[in-house]
Amino acid sequence: MTTQRSQATRSLNSNIIFVIGALGGLLFGFDTGIISGASPLIEKALHLTVSQISFVTSAVLIGSCVGALTIGGLSDKYGRKLLLFISSILFIIGALMSAFAPDFIIMVIARIILGLAVGSASALTPAYLAELAPKERRGSLETLFQLMITAGILLAYVANIGFLNHNIAGWADWRWMLVTAFIPALALFIGSIILPESPHFLIRMGKEDESQQVLTQLRPSYTAEQIKSEFHDIQNANSQNHKGGVKELFTIARPALIAAIGIMLFQQLVGINSVIYYLPQVFIEGFHFSASSAIWISVGIGVVNFLSTIVATIIMDKFPRKKLLIWGAFVMGVSLAILCVINYTINIETAAVYTIILIAIYIFGFAVSWGPLAWVLIGEIFPLSVRGVGSSFGSAANWIGNFVVTQFFLIILALFHNNVGGPFGIFAIFAFLSIPFVMRYVPETHGKSLGEIQDELLKKNKQNKK
Ligand code: BGC
Repeated sequence: MTTQRSQATRSLNSNIIFVIGALGGLLFGFDTGIISGASPLIEKALHLTVSQISFVTSAVLIGSCVGALTIGGLSDKYGRKLLLFISSILFIIGALMSAFAPDFIIMVIARIILGLAVGSASALTPAYLAELAPKERRGSLETLFQLMITAGILLAYVANIGFLNHNIAGWADWRWMLVTAFIPALALFIGSIILPESPHFLIRMGKEDESQQVLTQLRPSYTAEQIKSEFHDIQNANSQNHKGGVKELFTIARPALIAAIGIMLFQQLVGINSVIYYLPQVFIEGFHFSASSAIWISVGIGVVNFLSTIVATIIMDKFPRKKLLIWGAFVMGVSLAILCVINYTINIETAAVYTIILIAIYIFGFAVSWGPLAWVLIGEIFPLSVRGVGSSFGSAANWIGNFVVTQFFLIILALFHNNVGGPFGIFAIFAFLSIPFVMRYVPETHGKSLGEIQDELLKKNKQNKK
């Protein structure tokens, strides 16, 4: 079985492995993004109350948090590949069930299943990609996950616009929107059968030969010497390992845990999803735009987000991670602060134009720094024995932050009498606060192997104890 699998994966090009491995990101972006356009239609078709439809929206976030938390420990035990396969099945079930849902209950169950899948993918993929990637390209290859997220968001916006009012073959538009997710889910399902297991996990399981085979396949340009040296690096990291599990995460890996949770909370508290999920509402409520022009603004922002993330994949391995985070926080903080001042000082028509430009700059700042780096870092800062469970905690913090921002954004906007300067001013404060956090708590991982990062962490933890 093992040899058959290695033979099947050997014929796969190593770049394709990374693209398939990152597919969970596409579903993450799609399943969270699609609801903005689909929810008013679902509300009408299934005769839902306002609280019922907001539950349909937030069910994914609740499911994601649970999915993220449960998956990591399992992946440390049973492997990244198997769990990726299971989450692809959840993606398929969720996509079909939500598209065929006849009523509120089935829709909520479907959205929770989708959430479990999204949460699992968000905890598994960063660690999996980090373990497959060579250290000199790890940042860029891990950024593929974020690139897929932004592609998924864009695909969701396009599906929203493309299917709206088209009841093809007598099937409602919103059902077509939701069923679109079936295609990438199926691709992930097939992909996860042929993807290789992580070489790090294989060593942890004592499957050294298989690990070496996978490394050889993943590094076509490496010499035998280089492969051997990487193999020894992983072996070394494994030999220092303890049992793993939550207790160890809270003790030997505590500095990494603090960094991961902080980065993830800040990634959400800078308000990214108020833009990704609610931009049309912001322009309708705040600037009296029509619904149709507001939707196009969000497509434009989706494009800026996607293109800027391509820039991120190119530059990711050229700069230290902490510098990029600080730079990104500064760009976001300044653009949001200007946006806040403008919306309180000039007339609403002129402010609308500046707001669009400033949001585009803010998105650019996020997309080349915090967007990808939060996921890159949770994949690489934890020691091997707790990498899965550590990513789980980081990822769950991200979903909690996301839930808080998206639940309260519209309420806060209303408190400021629909002046976007209010909530965006609060997000600016969080952007600036993230800078000292990064300087104090985030380790620099650029250019280091996962083994070196682990050594530094364990050393630091020992020093802290003294
Ligand atoms: C965040 C998501 C967000 C997306 C936007 C991701 O890194 O975790 O919450 O919707 O970026 O591109």
